[in-house]
Amino acid sequence: MKINKAVIPLGGLGTRLLPITKSQPKEMLPIYDRPAIHYAVLEAKKGGIENFLFITGRGKESIENYFDYSFELEERLKKDKKFEYLEKVQEIYNLGKFFYIRQKEPKGLGDAIYLSKDFVNTEPFVVILADDIFIYNEPPIKKLIEIFYKYNGIILGIKKVPFDKVERYGIIKGEKIENNLYKVSDLLEKPKREEAPSNLAIIGRYILMPQIFDVLKNLKPGKNNEIQLTDAIKELIDKVPIFGYEIDDKHFDIGDKLDFILANVYFASMDKEIKKELLNKIEDLIKKEKGVILK
Ligand code: G1P
Repeated sequence: MKINKAVIPLGGLGTRLLPITKSQPKEMLPIYDRPAIHYAVLEAKKGGIENFLFITGRGKESIENYFDYSFELEERLKKDKKFEYLEKVQEIYNLGKFFYIRQKEPKGLGDAIYLSKDFVNTEPFVVILADDIFIYNEPPIKKLIEIFYKYNGIILGIKKVPFDKVERYGIIKGEKIENNLYKVSDLLEKPKREEAPSNLAIIGRYILMPQIFDVLKNLKPGKNNEIQLTDAIKELIDKVPIFGYEIDDKHFDIGDKLDFILANVYFASMDKEIKKELLNKIEDLIKKEKGVILK
């Protein structure tokens, strides 16, 4: 069955980036000239996805506006003959068909995914967490979809992380069966370092199957008193084959301050117009300007 639906949960409070995330959803923070969410949708589109369900919530209205048609803006750009900008604006809503549902309270990733049940229906689907942004030639999600077509199971994007960071992630236990591919035999959400079965962490790319909804329906809260997607996947271990695919591409976790800045510098440096000057100017700035402090 062809995969052409993506679910993008937007539940997080963006705590690690406060105060900027107090009134601005983390997913709408700029990564150079577009919001973080744009990169997630673009990757999925390049992977063949046409339909997107955003799980939104209070304070996330700007995401709907971003992907919507803006009549006034387009008329103005046409009138001023700013066709280059018009193209950029039109490109956004041509990325796919967008659907929205609100999660009433942040009860966890598993709860957010459960809300996609009617949208997904009986098909396999993609989940993308927008705070993980990759630098790729071939979109990681496309690779995961190919593996799904070959193995017909749940596929998790994974990456090795330092052992002192395992507490931030879902961690898998798995046996390598071919290049980059692991058969998963156990999963733990945010384990303590000494309990982690490996340092293979789930990063924000999943191919899920509709059986996940039967489990999510009755799942009790887990880590941090939230309904955890990792726990639901674990429940399916004896029913559905589960694989982890190690994504080699460099990625930024934009919920982390350092990665957020690096992502901005990287994507800015991809713009030919400013690339040359960018690095010199950053160096100059940091060496010479010692004045203003924000405290
Ligand atoms: C979520 C998942 C976790 C995964 C992580 C990837 O956690 O629950 O299993 O490793 O995303 O970013 P969160 O970052 O929402 O706490």
